[in-house]
Amino acid sequence: MKKLYAIAITTAALALGSFQLQAAETIRFGTEATYPPFEFLDDNNEVTGFDIDLAKAICAEIKAECTFSTQPFDSLIPGLKYRRFDAVIAGMDITPARQKQVDFSMPYFENSASFVAAKNKSFKSANDLTGKAVGVQNGSTFQTYMIDKFEKQGVTVRPYETIQNAFLDMTNGRLDAVFSDTAVANDWLLEQGKGDYSRMGEVIRDADYFGVGYGIAVRQKNPLKSKIDDALTTLKNNGTWQKIHDKYFPEAR
Ligand code: ARG
Repeated sequence: MKKLYAIAITTAALALGSFQLQAAETIRFGTEATYPPFEFLDDNNEVTGFDIDLAKAICAEIKAECTFSTQPFDSLIPGLKYRRFDAVIAGMDITPARQKQVDFSMPYFENSASFVAAKNKSFKSANDLTGKAVGVQNGSTFQTYMIDKFEKQGVTVRPYETIQNAFLDMTNGRLDAVFSDTAVANDWLLEQGKGDYSRMGEVIRDADYFGVGYGIAVRQKNPLKSKIDDALTTLKNNGTWQKIHDKYFPEAR
């Protein structure tokens, strides 16, 4: 009888032990994966990119498991608030407006904004866009900026669910320009623009709209923020960040 009892306790303890092993923290990331080189689907339909490699490296540091789900960009902050995921990594600008809703990690990537247009349109600056149509990603900081700064000047601002669809509409002649992240514009120019398109005018940095770089968003006051920040500091210091950067931005080497 005593022996059986002991066996039962041992089994329970073993079960508990393995449960604890499996119960390592899981961080569910939300993203919008049509944004190369930050997040996109590879040939096997797996989400990949600079942000994804960085998130995986953070999870390795924290000893957490990472999962990724992809959603429309404008639903990422609502999804985070409704706990559909624990963090958002999506080339997301740390802006004052968003900071009212979520907390951000320290900046992990320096950002700026750029227009792309056909070379033969020979627009010199955004002021030449009066009466023209410009595509932006729905819910992005570019949309807010264009509406605030250019709509009253007679520019039509067209929101797209993905920036790739905006680029496509530009190549089909339905848009005169696309306004997006400089790094994403550069990637598109290299991969698809094929010499007929280029960046137009100056790179724009306006912290009121585009914030202070990209950050990983978490729910307000979530202690996950400081774990992510500590991991980011380590990855910056030990060269991992740079390695991931060079993988996705080889021209910067
Ligand atoms: N940087 C812009 C913003 O924060 C656009 C980001 C879009 N990201 C994406 N994964 N589609 O609003």
